[in-house]
Amino acid sequence: MRGLCLYLTNNFPDRNQPIVLIELFLGSAIGNIWAFSFAAPPKDRLKKNLNNSFDGWLNYYLLVNLYKVNLATYFMLTSSFPLKQVFHCPEESDFYAHSLESLVLNTSDSPRSIVEFGSGEGSPVIKSLLRTSFEGKIEGFELNNVAWKIAKAQIDEYGLSEQYIVRNCSFFDSPAYKQADCLISNPPYLPAADDKIYQPLLHGGTDGSGIAKKLLSLGCEKVLLMVSSYSHPAGLINYAADRGYAVANFEIAPLTFGYYSSEPKVKNAIDLLRKKGMAFYSQNIYLLAGVLFKQQQKSQRDLSGELMQLITAL
Ligand SMILES: C[S@@+](CC[C@H](N)C(=O)[O-])C[C@H]1O[C@@H](n2cnc3c(N)ncnc32)[C@H](O)[C@@H]1O
Repeated sequence: MRGLCLYLTNNFPDRNQPIVLIELFLGSAIGNIWAFSFAAPPKDRLKKNLNNSFDGWLNYYLLVNLYKVNLATYFMLTSSFPLKQVFHCPEESDFYAHSLESLVLNTSDSPRSIVEFGSGEGSPVIKSLLRTSFEGKIEGFELNNVAWKIAKAQIDEYGLSEQYIVRNCSFFDSPAYKQADCLISNPPYLPAADDKIYQPLLHGGTDGSGIAKKLLSLGCEKVLLMVSSYSHPAGLINYAADRGYAVANFEIAPLTFGYYSSEPKVKNAIDLLRKKGMAFYSQNIYLLAGVLFKQQQKSQRDLSGELMQLITAL
């Protein structure tokens, strides 16, 4: 880092230029560490900040960007620290984004106002908004301060602050869900006896379905939830039915056990649930379903039976 600063200071004619670049480096390096699939030169911002030839600056920017991605990759490969700070599982987040698009945003009766529990670093909703023509608003809540800062920076970077805002407080401390047409979430679903796990905020109660059940008890008309096959899915589907919800639609993807679900304390809890007939997985995969729950009187069909059969298949 010191070498890069020296290089920049010695090679720029205007003393302010290296400072702008170092600021760019530091400002988006964090974002790239968590989600470097988002790495793209913020050209508008560069244009605004710099009066010099844009092409010349772009070359410098790309050089710095190369350092950033290499540093991010090195950091990700050699340290588990970032994974413990902010939820990072691109496979899962991408499937959440996909479910959000196909089950909510791209439907004929897409909602106008949406609330989100646990926005993380914001990338799933940002990706969905960039890929669809949804014009409503999404209000997210994220308790993790580091994740929230990254989400805020990324929302600004992509010019989505009119459509997507994320608040740094507990979802349950705000009455926002009472006015919303739809609640969406990839909720914490790791089962464990207590929350002393890598990321306490990913704890979903003893069987993993605690937060999801709490979200289904708030009375929202539509609820999109990611449901894991190892977090007592049958109990959750039955709970939803008891609360008056039908399964209006769903999609399922196979996922591999990752960093968080392979933590020994969590893995032991999952194994125990399986012995009790409450967790379903194979040696290689578990299933994750994006499920759209709708209040029974508003839903034309109920696919609970089909979902139950598929999510407990392994
Ligand atoms: C499984 S992660 C999902 C993150 C993101 N939506 C994604 O799919 O990439 C769940 C998120 O919920 C957040 N969270 C946990 N409890 C919360 C609460 N009471 N209010 C708001 N966010 C919470 C966690 O910090 C975490 O970022």
